[in-house]
Amino acid sequence: MSESNIKDMQQIVSLAKRRGFIFQSSEIYGGLSSCWDYGPYGIELKRNLKNKWWQAMTFRSDIVGVDASIFMHPQVWKASGHVDGFNDPMVDCKACKSRFREDKIDTSAPCQNCGAKGEFTEPRDFNLMFKTKMGPVEDSSADVYLRPETAQGIFVNFLNVQSTMRKKLPFGIAQIGKAFRNEITPGNFIFRTREFEQMEMQYFVKPGEQMKAMEDWKELRWNWHISNGIRPENLRWHPHVGDELAHYADAAEDIEYKFPHGWDEMEGIHSRTDFDLRKHEEFSGKNLKYTDVQDGNKKYLPFVLETSVGCDRALLAILCDAFRIENEGDKENERTVMKFHPSLAPIKVAVLPLTKKLNEQATALFHDLQKEFKAEYDVAGSIGKRYRRQDEIGTPMCVTFDFDSLEDNAVTVRDRDTMNQERVAIDQLKNYLRDRIYI
Ligand code: GAP
Repeated sequence: MSESNIKDMQQIVSLAKRRGFIFQSSEIYGGLSSCWDYGPYGIELKRNLKNKWWQAMTFRSDIVGVDASIFMHPQVWKASGHVDGFNDPMVDCKACKSRFREDKIDTSAPCQNCGAKGEFTEPRDFNLMFKTKMGPVEDSSADVYLRPETAQGIFVNFLNVQSTMRKKLPFGIAQIGKAFRNEITPGNFIFRTREFEQMEMQYFVKPGEQMKAMEDWKELRWNWHISNGIRPENLRWHPHVGDELAHYADAAEDIEYKFPHGWDEMEGIHSRTDFDLRKHEEFSGKNLKYTDVQDGNKKYLPFVLETSVGCDRALLAILCDAFRIENEGDKENERTVMKFHPSLAPIKVAVLPLTKKLNEQATALFHDLQKEFKAEYDVAGSIGKRYRRQDEIGTPMCVTFDFDSLEDNAVTVRDRDTMNQERVAIDQLKNYLRDRIYI
């Protein structure tokens, strides 16, 4: 049996639409550029991914969670440097009016849209934050921003969380939430969008301990992606050097994934020093220092190690990694299968009665499985067609209820990846599924 992997993004875009994972936003109105809606299977996959991240972060005694507001005091973004420095250099083609990020193209080459040569404007800074008005009065005091990262909601709550949870260093705060950036060149499906979700964790440590924390978190985060079923050969590290290093960081490394458009950033691990807390102290006038009772009541600002992964980007990597075509070109035996890790699969088990005549007994089994597993029932079409449909949405196990089931109280369980079939007693079925899903 031959197996091929994803070759271009269009394969994922069309499967995602065909099978109800991801649709273009406002499609009936012609769509809105770079905005996407998660469909029924997409949202299950996304929820499973977020739950897995939340569990990896907060099911430990040194990390707690928050859910901060998207709108924050405008001074937050002054303090963080986003108002003055969160810019990308932008150039326009004077011939066709297309806009590009200057650092992503060769401005001495012809325009990639219309082919005009020497028509680019001088680069200008373009601030990526979305600005809007809060309240009914249209004056400048009502200006607010849609947050461009979730991290600042953690920094401004550092003391609230530390004191109410009685946390000692080192400890972390985790958050999942939407972020917004007015990207100049969004694209590659859900890779770069203007509205996206981040899963960020700030780990507060004693100054001087940030590099050890960085090494520990690098290992944990790498292994987390592997635990999602990503193949190690599709991951690599990209350390930030020279100009790449943000002004607030003393070290940073990205985990890159081999997307169909090339190697690109999926997660950033940043050692952010005490930059953010120091700036918020300065701008708010509030003392944000930590009192170290284990070290003679010394007062200092902790250093911060950040892990930041885009939920949509991690999900795109999971879609790309899971995508396989087996026996490509062989009309009878070709099948497209999404080999999701069972913990992430949108549907864990499908119940497929051999014929409608078995509906009553098969439905009873389905309803029982539904109490514990996200399950689906399908009686329409040939069994082969029903298997293929479940393969394309990545359901790890299909349960066939046949006439023998009425006699022997057993069902046939078909494994998505090997297509092997096994007869399993119905009273053992839940245990059988648990052993193969919660791995
Ligand atoms: N708090 C640090 C921070 O926001 P970042 O490298 O700008 O750092 C972190 O973003 C992660 O957020 C990226 O690695 C990526 O996964 C995701 N991300 C950033 N911009 C994005 C966009 N326009 N669309 C989708 N995901 C994005």
